[in-house]
Amino acid sequence: MPSTLPSTPHGGLSYRSDSYGQGNGDPRQRLIVALDVSTAAAAQKIVAAVGDSALTYKVGMQLYTAEGPQVVRDLVASGRRVFLDLKYHDIPNTVGAAVAEAAKLGVSMLTVHAAGSARMLRAAVEAAKVRPELIVLAITVLTSMDENDLEKIGLRGTVEDSVLRLATIALANGCQGVVTSAREASRLRAELGDKFAIVTPGVRPAGSSVGDQVRVVTPAEAIAAGASHIVVGRPITEAADPAAEAQAILGQMNR
Ligand code: C5P
Repeated sequence: MPSTLPSTPHGGLSYRSDSYGQGNGDPRQRLIVALDVSTAAAAQKIVAAVGDSALTYKVGMQLYTAEGPQVVRDLVASGRRVFLDLKYHDIPNTVGAAVAEAAKLGVSMLTVHAAGSARMLRAAVEAAKVRPELIVLAITVLTSMDENDLEKIGLRGTVEDSVLRLATIALANGCQGVVTSAREASRLRAELGDKFAIVTPGVRPAGSSVGDQVRVVTPAEAIAAGASHIVVGRPITEAADPAAEAQAILGQMNR
């Protein structure tokens, strides 16, 4: 991948500032493009087409399972930031060891399940410290789950209550942010403050097709709700002109 990916210098800017990218005027600090494809070649094509319009790419379980860590190394070597979204959830020792390996790969953000326990979260955060710019994000409640699903696994109350409870545990144990839908973002900001990242998927540019996402928000709505970062996949990766689409989204974020 590095041979064909022109490098994108981003001048040492870090997510790990007090404002987690919110204070910097460049909206690219807040846009994450999801590489939900099965091959490094497909990923490379998207990254090249997006060009300078995005700095950060999300590698999730599909691409990682298909291509392994080399795809991450190549993105990092080309100057891109990587959000490694493997949603670790295991015993603390195992999660800590996995996070240590992710840190060695040079990723900038990764995910763990908040439901994995305070001890597991602390193990993840501790292991991430070798790479100070690495942000550990906690998954709260998957948006595919509703109140009925939660009740069946013994979690009473609304989805929002569970999100708030899990986010509180995550932040109390050192995580620097959470992944959550824009629906819950404003309550998290109101109750937990603004010193942490909120990464929000399910974003669709105004006027675009919704696909299989059930609840979607526009980039401007996500930012207004308190998101520090938005994750956008198919609207950019499947666009005829991914760079133009990314630019349009950046424009909508600044509004
Ligand atoms: O293509 P699209 O913009 O829908 O991609 C959204 C990305 O965010 C995908 O990688 C998807 O797995 C992820 N995601 C999501 N909804 C969540 C959590 C993650 O769509 N609740």
